[in-house]
Order: sequence, then structure tokens, then C-alpha cells
Amino acid sequence: MASVNRRNFIKNSGLATLPMLVANPVLAMGTTNNQSAAGTQVIKFMGDGEMFEPVDYLNILQQATIVRDSYGAGGSVEALEKKFVEITGKEKAVFMPSGTMANQLAIAVLSGENSKVFVQDTSHIYRDEADAAQSVYQKRLMPLAKDEPFFTAQQLQAAVEALPSEEVFKTGVGAVSIENPVRRSNGRMVPIEELRKISAYCRANNIKLHLDGARIYMAAAWSGISVKEYASLFDTIYISLYKYLGAAGGAMLCGDKTIIDKMPHLIKVHGGSMYGNWSNAAMALHRLEGFEGRMKNTVQKANELFEALNKIPGITIKPLPGGTNIYSFALSPKIEITKLRDALNTNYNIRIGRVNEKNEGFISVNETLLYQDNNYIINAFKKSMA
Ligand SMILES: Cc1ncc(COP(=O)(O)O)c(C=O)c1O
Repeated sequence: MASVNRRNFIKNSGLATLPMLVANPVLAMGTTNNQSAAGTQVIKFMGDGEMFEPVDYLNILQQATIVRDSYGAGGSVEALEKKFVEITGKEKAVFMPSGTMANQLAIAVLSGENSKVFVQDTSHIYRDEADAAQSVYQKRLMPLAKDEPFFTAQQLQAAVEALPSEEVFKTGVGAVSIENPVRRSNGRMVPIEELRKISAYCRANNIKLHLDGARIYMAAAWSGISVKEYASLFDTIYISLYKYLGAAGGAMLCGDKTIIDKMPHLIKVHGGSMYGNWSNAAMALHRLEGFEGRMKNTVQKANELFEALNKIPGITIKPLPGGTNIYSFALSPKIEITKLRDALNTNYNIRIGRVNEKNEGFISVNETLLYQDNNYIINAFKKSMA
């Protein structure tokens, strides 16, 4: 399994495919204006990070060290797993084809014979994983804190202690899963003090704890608490490889060796074992280099930028309470959002999202903010508003 350098990659992968991609109108769709690899970099006030178009993806991948794996063993996959062991401080990490599978297998294995798993009502596991826990893994998800970003340790304890009087047949509590930050709550975080209390309660009561940390790097950047510290409170943690690390898909699940060693077999059982995973692993590994530092700079730059943008009449940008990279964004009713969006996009390569009928919405901050200095962005808004 030879390491592939840039020139060999072009030759071996036949970057002859590149002109084909460009010539193919379907594949090339959306590639315009996203030349982040080629130089004219787009600032996106939406999403959590770079999500490369196919041509850009191939360009960036050529800068990575690529070693092929075989069914997830060896090569760039193994290198990425080692990296995540370092990052999280856990004993072992395993590459997963999706975050959904990482979440589901983690809570299934952690809870063993016990069938109840407590989750946030707003969590991806509860609302967005097609009832897999119930239908595939025979786990009963018990939602807490309706429509709220998080439940407290007290609420969890009350729910666990109420079970004997509320249910006749005793089935044990297997695991608790926490999503942080919470996608359905616009990236709000679970406060670290609450996580510490929940972790202490679970450990004292032999209840296993899983972290859906798909976007844990956003929480780390905005809270100043390291990924390792978050991970230390949990038995398992999953981190997405595509939401901000540039891969086209994939996830990492980290935890004790006894848990993680069970995963390759279970991934196969559930049809998730893929022959080659190196393109996603190599991309994530490449983009992880310096990522924490880039996020730190992004937060600082966002604070300075929003202070300046708020001085432009008609714009109000505010952080959300307990929030991360998603900010509320309001424009005075006089401003035509479509004109502003078009001007920013066409003249300055800046993308902003939609607003509602009251001219209110959200803007997200990610590392694409680093592509231009703040004066460029401030000037772009001023000119486009005029
Ligand atoms: C919080 C959270 N968890 C898990 C997932 C699932 O990730 P995947 O798309 O890799 O299955 C997502 C995806 O949107 C998510 O937002």
C-alpha cells in the first residue's frame, strides 16, 4: 500500500476524470464560484465549514497524503483513527460510514441487554434517525426536555427514579445520549457544568453515556473547552468527518477498546463495511491539520466583524444564548434581501442565507471567514446595502 504523492495521484487516479467532470453538466453543477482550491475563495455565512464541490475536492485531495485501506483496515483510515485517539484521549477509534450508524451502534452496544436510552427530545438520534433505535436495535428512546436544547442532571435523575412507580415491568436503563451542540436548537450548547453533573450521575449509577459530537469542534471553538475534555465525560463520542472537515462523508467513533473492538463486525452486519474508505479518511486527516487554530481565529474574527457590521444602519447580528457558530441576523424592513444576497454573491463571493418575511434569519460562521480580511467583508456589506 504505497503512499500516493500529488503527482502519482494525478497519474493513478487519471485526473483525466477532471475534464470529464467539468464537461458533465450534472457533475459540474454548482462548481462555479466555489474555487476554494483554486484561489477565488467563497465566504459562506452558512453551514459549519467547507463542503467542497467535486472539482475542488479532487484538487484539495491531491495535497493530502493518501494510503489506501482495505475494508477500513490500514492506510489513511488507520492514520485517521490514531489521530482521533490523540484528539479525544480515548483508547480506540473506528471509522464509520455515517454518523447515524456511529450513534446507533454506540447506544446499542453501550446499553447491552437494557432497553431504555434517554435522549434529548431535540436530538438527531430521537428525531432524525428513522426510528432505527426502536426498529433495528430494539432500544426504546426516552426523550427528555421537550423542544429544549438540553436536559439537566436533575431532570435525568428524576426520570430514572420515576421509572419503578411509572412502569410495571422492569427493563433497565442502558445508556444516555447527549448531542452537543444541538443542531435543531441552532447550535446551542449543553453547558459544561451540566455535562459534568450528568456524567457524575451516570458513572455513579452505572449508566453508560454517549456523545453525539457531530459538531463538537464548534462547541470547542465557542466554549474554549477542548474536544478531549468533552470526550473525557463520556464513554463514547462520535465526530463527523464531513460537516467541517471537508470529507464527502463518514464519521469517527471513539471509546474504550472493549466497545470499539465490537464495531467492525457490527458495521459489516448492518451493511456498512465498504471496500475503500481512503478518500474520506485522507481528506479529513489533511483538513484536521491546523483546524483548531483556524477555528480559534474564526471565532475572534467573527466577534470583530459582527461588532463592525452592527454599526451599519439596518443590520443586527447577535449571538444566541449558549450558542456556537449560528447567530441571529436581522435586516431593517427597507432592505431587499434578494438584492443584497445577489450583490454579495456576484460582486464579492460572499454567500448569506435566507430570511423570513420579517427580514430575520440566521447566519453561520465557519472557517471560510478566514478567506478575506474583515475590511473586505465590511466594505462588501456596505456597498451591497447601498
Ligand atoms: C447532530 C447530528 N448527529 C448525527 C448526524 C448523522 O450524520 P450522518 O449524516 O453522517 O449519518 C447528523 C447529520 O446531520 C447530525 O446533525
